[in-house]
Amino acid sequence: MNDNLRDAAERGAFSGKIGYVLATAGSAVGLGNIWRFPYLAASYGGGIFLLVYLILALTFGYTLMMSESTLGRLTGKSPVGAFTAFSQRKLSKAGGWVNAVIPMLILPYYSVIGGWVCKYLFEYIKGNVAGTAQDDFFGGFISSAGDAELWFIVFTALTLIVIVAGVENGVEKVSKVMMPVLVCLAIIVAIYSMTRPGAVKGIEYFLVPDIKHFSWMTVVAALGQMFYSLSIAMGILITYGSYMKRDVDIEKATHQVIFFDSGIAILAGLMIIPAVFAFSGGDPAMLNKGPGLMFVTIPKVFESMGFGRGIGILFFVLVLFAALTSAISLAETCASTFQDELGLSRVKATGTVAVIMIVLGSLSSLGFSSLSFVTVIGMDILSFFDFLTNSVMMPIAALATCLFIVKRVGLNNISAEVSLSSKFRFEGMYRVFIKSVAPIFLVVIFLSSLASAFGLLNI
Ligand code: PHE
Repeated sequence: MNDNLRDAAERGAFSGKIGYVLATAGSAVGLGNIWRFPYLAASYGGGIFLLVYLILALTFGYTLMMSESTLGRLTGKSPVGAFTAFSQRKLSKAGGWVNAVIPMLILPYYSVIGGWVCKYLFEYIKGNVAGTAQDDFFGGFISSAGDAELWFIVFTALTLIVIVAGVENGVEKVSKVMMPVLVCLAIIVAIYSMTRPGAVKGIEYFLVPDIKHFSWMTVVAALGQMFYSLSIAMGILITYGSYMKRDVDIEKATHQVIFFDSGIAILAGLMIIPAVFAFSGGDPAMLNKGPGLMFVTIPKVFESMGFGRGIGILFFVLVLFAALTSAISLAETCASTFQDELGLSRVKATGTVAVIMIVLGSLSSLGFSSLSFVTVIGMDILSFFDFLTNSVMMPIAALATCLFIVKRVGLNNISAEVSLSSKFRFEGMYRVFIKSVAPIFLVVIFLSSLASAFGLLNI
């Protein structure tokens, strides 16, 4: 097994702990926090969704993140290599590939949303503050094929340019500068939004759990969101772990990433949900707006703020960077799988990623215009990819990881690797979760997602 383990000298490495935390946080914090979390929280019960989410993140999220990053550091490989380092069985290889395929399916539709962000940035640069605040602006934009496709291509090109530059240069530098500025701006916008007349109801809806709003789908949605937001179950943390130096306290780094990521999601919720109440009176149709919620609500906030143009430009630039760091980490994982497993050169691997992005991303983008007649199990193409990856494939990938860690790697190997750099403080909880709670729960979630997709479960 040892020859398959990492050869640190050959692999690029993050510069110490802060490099790892910032890059992982850069991957974690993205559209998932700012765009996806608020709309799910709005439609799945507000406070109760938040509570379920936080509990899941600190238990499941923690367990899976620890497993992946430790596996990466132990083997020094990207997902398929990390899985096969311990077992040549077909099943392990398949487990690795499930992890590796997910980012290839997420990246294209992620870039479509990234394109929406670019479009809004452009509108604010032009000074179109009032236009973007109109109710039908967003719908008009996504249903015009050429415009949506153009901005999707712009975002795709930006992502690819950065990944050609490599791990340290691309990922680390960008995330180090932008992240703190994003936090400051989000705080300012959240305070503004929370102090609008009528916003208090929104704050209450978002922060105070109300069991009346609980349903099983709250748990399903929160789990999918947790995977997505923490970049779990898609090999990303395995890849990042493989770039991590041996002196990094994995557990502390993991906790920091979870707190930071959840903090940004909460801030985004506080920017958007109170504004839904202040500007649309908490209209249920608005709360259930889905993927368009941020793009419809935030411009209304900016329009009323004064300096709307400046704030809009700054906000969308920062969101763009958050989206880019995530897209880069997705693209990086795909490219490194192609390099390691198919023996492609970096340039060819990047080219392959580009082709996948453009083909699948165009389908998602055109799903709101030229291809709007196509629906898959009742969903538009983008929502279908989102559902397929978050609710179906990620539970399978996470389950594969749990079983693989328990059966092939062995919990003692994991403990030993974690303990190289620090005490393994939550080892007891980790073991219980990875061995029993997580696998059982994942199977239940997977089955209920399928049942709800096919209309068998209406809860
Ligand atoms: N975690 C990122 C976010 O919250 C999205 C992402 C998903 C990044 C998957 C990488 C992989 O936006």
